[in-house]
Amino acid sequence: MTTMIDHRVSKRANAISPSSTLAITARVRAMKAEGRDIIGFGAGEPDFNTPDPICEAAIAALRSGMTRYVPVPGTPEARQSIVAKLARDNNITCTAEQIVISNGGKFSLYLALQSIINPGDEVVLPTPAWVSYKPMVELAGGTIVEVPTTAASGFLASPEDFARAITPRTRAVILNSPSNPCGTMYDPEAIRAICDVLAPHERVTLLSDEIYERLVYGGREHLSPGSLPSMQERTITFNGLSKAFAATGWRVGYVCAPPVIAKAMSKLQSQMTSSVTSFTLPALAIALNTCDGEVEVMRLAFEKRAALMEQLVSQWPGVTCPPPMGAFYVFPDISSTFNRTSPGGRVIDCAGAFAESLLEETGVAVVPGDDFLGCGPNHIRLSFALADAAIEDGCGRTARWLGGLA
Ligand SMILES: Cc1ncc(COP(=O)(O)O)c(C=O)c1O
Repeated sequence: MTTMIDHRVSKRANAISPSSTLAITARVRAMKAEGRDIIGFGAGEPDFNTPDPICEAAIAALRSGMTRYVPVPGTPEARQSIVAKLARDNNITCTAEQIVISNGGKFSLYLALQSIINPGDEVVLPTPAWVSYKPMVELAGGTIVEVPTTAASGFLASPEDFARAITPRTRAVILNSPSNPCGTMYDPEAIRAICDVLAPHERVTLLSDEIYERLVYGGREHLSPGSLPSMQERTITFNGLSKAFAATGWRVGYVCAPPVIAKAMSKLQSQMTSSVTSFTLPALAIALNTCDGEVEVMRLAFEKRAALMEQLVSQWPGVTCPPPMGAFYVFPDISSTFNRTSPGGRVIDCAGAFAESLLEETGVAVVPGDDFLGCGPNHIRLSFALADAAIEDGCGRTARWLGGLA
């Protein structure tokens, strides 16, 4: 039945695109459900289950009757457990009033941007970058100022790059180390040098997205900018349960923010979601303060897969890729395949066509790099959050397919 109802969608909703990474994940799920033999390098989530002690804590909280509204930014106990974690792991000194727990790191970022950005404000972002930063900045009325990086520099921006990007309109700088989609990270000296550039700009807040902080490889050290005296009062540190604790479906993220910003975020959250789900809060405390062993088991598995991935992708003809240092991604440059024809007769004229042809002809799913901005259109993103055998199978299929390009 057709109706005459005019369902007008807002300009705001029309202006943004859906998340391309979640779209690929949904497509892979649907193809697998049809019984197709698909190797999915698309999903940005660990393939492990959430460790038992975390699940048990949530179940116990639920059974004990923790089923009612909780305070908007989280219970005092959960906020205090984050204060303890940040002091122990990150050398960040803060109080519980600076902590806001929200429905996933993504919503923490959204709330923070809504809390500090006014129309016309600029947000400096090294690119390629995670797909959601730009839409979230734009939803807040701000403009992204890209700091483009390339594979040759390990996708790392220099302190001078940041100095050049900052203008009187700059309100915030986003740093995501280790990086999605690049899989590279800044070493402590680089973080210090970047913060030396930011420190004199008192209007600028640093948004440090540390969601992959625990997943670093090769003995590398992660340094939180919020631990540096010059940036301590102007940094919002983002983290959450999703990646380190294999808990993407739980939707638990948190920030440590300057008190005024934490208050603003809490106020917005009170009118949007009220709080996170009550019984995740005792589980959050257990995760952060008692599950180092479980996290290390997963980190070691990812470290092994990072080495396997690096070795296999380096054999792909015509493809270059910086070695993974952290997170669970590689971001190879596949532009040498452009204007060639796939074994199935498709013309590869962009990363989207590469990904589409590869998926249709070999069953290997990857994310085209376009939505990651910067040099992204020349790249694809592969997540190595899948079993070693699947990595070998998928990389082998891709190598054979690349070898068959005309
Ligand atoms: C760089 C980065 N930041 C934040 C997030 C948000 O994660 P979540 O909302 O699951 O906590 C993600 C998830 O993919 C990410 O890759």
